[in-house]
Amino acid sequence: MRILLTGGAGFIGSHTAVEIVQSGHDVVIFDNFSNSDASVLERLERILGRPVTFEEGDIRDYSRMREVLQKHNIDAVVHFAGLKAVGESVEKPLEYYDNNITGTLTLLRAMRDLGIKRLIFSSSATVYGTPQYLPLDENHPLSVTNPYGRTKLQVEEILSDLCVSDPEWSVVCLRYFNPIGAHESGLIGENPRGIPNNLLPYVARVAAGILPAVQVFGNDYDTPDGTGVRDYIHVVDLAKGHVNAAEYCSCHKGWIAINLGTGVGYSVLDIIHAYEKACGKPVPYKIVARRPGDVASNWANPQRALELLGWKAQYNLQDMCEHSWNFQKNCPVE
Ligand code: NAD
Ligand code: UD1
Repeated sequence: MRILLTGGAGFIGSHTAVEIVQSGHDVVIFDNFSNSDASVLERLERILGRPVTFEEGDIRDYSRMREVLQKHNIDAVVHFAGLKAVGESVEKPLEYYDNNITGTLTLLRAMRDLGIKRLIFSSSATVYGTPQYLPLDENHPLSVTNPYGRTKLQVEEILSDLCVSDPEWSVVCLRYFNPIGAHESGLIGENPRGIPNNLLPYVARVAAGILPAVQVFGNDYDTPDGTGVRDYIHVVDLAKGHVNAAEYCSCHKGWIAINLGTGVGYSVLDIIHAYEKACGKPVPYKIVARRPGDVASNWANPQRALELLGWKAQYNLQDMCEHSWNFQKNCPVE
């Protein structure tokens, strides 16, 4: 298959590019570098030992999108491109709706007009809202509380409508839990701009001495140690799930949502302690107030991914922290 990765220069897209190429498929990376930069392409080439095909462009540009899809004779698209920071989405809803909704609609129009009808969409466990039960399976009721989450849910619904309108479409919405870690080579990983919003890149920068201490958002949750529990998944496991989903798309039609998680929850303190073991030094932290909007616990039921995709996460928490640290050491942030 020839697979286009929109947002393929980003954190999850770059790891997915490696796994897709190593599974024998061809990849074209499409990105506007709004949250990444060209150096990732050279790093990918070092990992893969071969050139990587790249096209610069914006998913909101119909003619560019169509030109690239046609030029490379694309069979399927994995759609990562979008904005992803919850807090920023509250401040800049129009930017989020434009990138994530208008961008997706433009991509879908270009695909439809060229008869390309296989899509894997980067959705999120955020569509489950506050858990009514755990583990979260795909039939859990959906609800969202912020513009970012709303864009994920709306795109899922748009894709479902599209599949109803035309049974030739094949769409897999992958609902990611908390992707962390980095490629074993230490060449690619997560390197957000500015102060990280998410736990792992924050912990990595504290371990590297760039930030003074992790702020633990609350230790009075109803969890074993009082801190928030999440289903952290190694980004390489997540990336492999996309290979299985692309292969699934080539022999199934219709719309489906599938969780990508491990099925195991870890607390904030579990993460800090695993990271201390990985980097061989203490990671200072202090307990502060809860972060508004956070839930106590959240983890996946990953059974559907196993049944339909034959996929199961392989890496453990220690691997995730070691690979994250390996990347952090190679790519210090100024
Ligand atoms: P990322 O920001 O590292 O990657 C996204 C890439 O898309 C970036 O390289 C960016 O430059 C590009 N991009 C953004 N808008 C674009 C546009 N209009 N046209 C072309 N390229 C554009 O993010 P990521 O962590 O790799 O996430 C990828 C996808 O997965 C996103 O859709 C995100 O919402 C979703 N997701 C991520 C997480 C997570 O924890 N990282 C969790 C759930 C879902
Ligand atoms: C967040 C988003 C979610 C998004 C996901 C991946 C919110 C409310 N949710 O999920 O929509 O899909 O990121 O991008 O923003 N924590 C600390 N200190 C920190 C950072 C986090 O204690 O500096 C805690 C949080 O309270 C939480 C856990 O660590 O218990 C994980 O937080 P984070 O990495 O931000 O992910 P989520 O909140 O699960």
